[in-house]
Amino acid sequence: MTQPRKIIIDTDPGQDDAVAILLALASPEVDVLGITAVAGNVPVALTAKNARKVCEVAGRPDVLVYAGCEKPMAHTLVTAEHVHGVSGLDGIELPDPKMPLQDQHGVDFIIDTLRAEPSGTVTLCPMGPLTNIATAFERAPDIIARVQEIVLMGGAYFEVGNITPAAEFNIYVDPEAAEIVFKSGVKLVVMPLDVTHKALVTQERLDPFKAMGHVGDVVLGWMDFFERFDIEKYGSAGGPLHDPTVIAYLINPDMFSGRFINVEIETKSELTRGMTVADWWGVTDRAPNAMFMGDIDADAFFDLLNQRIATL
Ligand code: BDR
Ligand code: CA
Repeated sequence: MTQPRKIIIDTDPGQDDAVAILLALASPEVDVLGITAVAGNVPVALTAKNARKVCEVAGRPDVLVYAGCEKPMAHTLVTAEHVHGVSGLDGIELPDPKMPLQDQHGVDFIIDTLRAEPSGTVTLCPMGPLTNIATAFERAPDIIARVQEIVLMGGAYFEVGNITPAAEFNIYVDPEAAEIVFKSGVKLVVMPLDVTHKALVTQERLDPFKAMGHVGDVVLGWMDFFERFDIEKYGSAGGPLHDPTVIAYLINPDMFSGRFINVEIETKSELTRGMTVADWWGVTDRAPNAMFMGDIDADAFFDLLNQRIATL
């Protein structure tokens, strides 16, 4: 097998973030150098705690978890307890983590890691607001050229918004950070709502988790809680499973299709703040800056999740 790909997971768990972390820790194709928590679904003290709970569910208390930024670059924090619950990870009672939170700030870990590893060998996997990544880029511009790729969950085009009519949550919470990342020149792969709203957690897709023991029960508890909100909201057979698409892409990019297009971030308008203005039809001459995915083989995606999480 080729060398596992070195990744940093930047995250605000979040039940879907949690499943993404499990998928990464169960997959030999990726080597998780560290997990940086960011304020998003809930404040950073909780996302940093939740990230460690998830590592312990996976039997991996050795994973390095760091707390990152407490608030977005220019705005007050908007959270999503209405989706994820007050803990950010409601759905099943889990013990407080025993594994330590690293002393170093998450942004410093990102900077130091990108400087220490050979250039072009570390991929960033953001699954929450882009505050940690953009802060690292602002503080240490020399690291930008050293990033292998950024594969992130955020934005929307045809599916427009889930937190406002125009914006997806991760981009909406910190559009200034998103603008820095989208303008950075780093190779960028984007999993927008257009993809994740096709990755629906139906009962049939949950069935295999019932035979997986503790880890399966935890995933079922999370999904049951997380989905209730989306099923009601969208009237669909199941809720979308957003963040694990990022890790699935690293394992099997052929599951996804999209277009290399220009994507700009709206930061000014009160009405459309955080919108990803995606030139899907190529109607401008703005230079492409992102591989913006539009479709997913959802059955293959859930097969992968089931197979991998069963090994934990
Ligand atoms: C994104 O927002 C969060 O609530 C989810 O964890 C996901 O990262 C979906 O819009
Ligand atoms: Ca998330």
